[in-house]
Amino acid sequence: MAIHIPRGTQDILPGEVEKWQLIEEKAKEICDRFQYQEIRTPIFEHTELFLRGVGDTTDVVQKEMYTFEDRGERSLTLRPEGTAAVVRSYVENKMFGYANQPIKLYYMGPMFRYERPQAGRFRQFVQFGVEAIGSSDPAIDAEVIALAMTFYKEMGLKKLKLVINSLGDKESRGAHRDALIAHFKPRIGEFCSDCQNRLEKNPMRILDCKKDREHELMKSAPSILDYLNEDSKTYFEKVQRYLQDLDIEFVVDPNLVRGLDYYTHTAFEIMSDAEGFGAITTLCGGGRYNGLTEDIGGPEAPGIGFAFSIERLIAALSAEKVELDLKNSIDCYLVALGDEAKDYTVGLLQKLRNAGFSADRDYLDRKIKAQFKAADRVNAKYVAVLGEDELKENKINLKSMDTGEQTEINLDSFIEKFIELSGK
Ligand code: HAM
Repeated sequence: MAIHIPRGTQDILPGEVEKWQLIEEKAKEICDRFQYQEIRTPIFEHTELFLRGVGDTTDVVQKEMYTFEDRGERSLTLRPEGTAAVVRSYVENKMFGYANQPIKLYYMGPMFRYERPQAGRFRQFVQFGVEAIGSSDPAIDAEVIALAMTFYKEMGLKKLKLVINSLGDKESRGAHRDALIAHFKPRIGEFCSDCQNRLEKNPMRILDCKKDREHELMKSAPSILDYLNEDSKTYFEKVQRYLQDLDIEFVVDPNLVRGLDYYTHTAFEIMSDAEGFGAITTLCGGGRYNGLTEDIGGPEAPGIGFAFSIERLIAALSAEKVELDLKNSIDCYLVALGDEAKDYTVGLLQKLRNAGFSADRDYLDRKIKAQFKAADRVNAKYVAVLGEDELKENKINLKSMDTGEQTEINLDSFIEKFIELSGK
């Protein structure tokens, strides 16, 4: 029996992979403009990192992690997200001591969550994310949001909605937590077992419950915004003012709580409004995490970041019918007739490639017509034809597929002439 790909994963084949490459290049280019540098962390980490970082009452930790024991009986987990690992690395490598602060990092790579696969939800997906650690200036919250919005806009997305909220500082969260417990406790029996377990441990997670979303107590639940202390209010107002200064439209949604435990102050999501995008409309999620470095054993260092998956970005691009400017042609295809000419093209092809051109030839001993068809299929800009007679005369025939113009070139000066004609 044939072996199939695991559920919730996908192969990205030629034809599709070009989109990924373009997106990856664009992400890197934008990070350079905003001055974020790449960091690469391992695919797996000690499970403890996510228990402490992401939070042991979250769905991600309770239900979705790929956790295994290695041969040394250590509990390891395939990373479900990037922030905890980046912060671990920040602490471990003492980046707080670097001269240049804040530390601004980006990453791109596969993440793993054992979720129920559906449109836009995979078990292995690729996140692009950024983290700025070491500053609690609300201007950097605005910068991080601006980076994401700039990226999406330059990719060609128009139907975007930015939703923001503040989860406040520790004090505000504490007051909100007490209010949530008082609100839900009398009728907690009507909620699912997860919510019941979370009531005392982390009542905010109840607001995030997928099963009890429609319960009437959800809508009337106390809003975090009513519990923000002065510092948290001022902070949130500044973030909003900076976003207005940057002409970034947003709506404040007091129900936006995010699914991970480390958030404080600013939380945000970017959604797609595009028709046909599907039930899951969140493209990107992020926020501030001022206590995370301490949670994983480091010194105090405030941070903010976001992440989005390339899978959801591609879905949004296709829902908005954005045509990407993909390279889909090659510089030269060599067509050869006869054994001697075929042998000769082996070296000639390498010369073209050494000179920096994309070039190919036939490897299936095809007839001339079929070789021309192959050149067509790869959208060759030029086709160079070498027959027995041309070879004897030390010549090659170069045809521009754009203009149809044909030029006879001396074989010894082919590369020089090709450089000249192709304008490279
Ligand atoms: P998150 O909201 O769990 O946040 O995930 C961020 C993004 O990853 C989502 O908006 C979505 O684009 C993508 N994503 C998540 N799960 C899946 C999935 N199963 N399939 C496809 N795409 C998915 C975080 O991961 C935080 N680390 C973000 C962050 C960075 N906060 C601060 N810094």
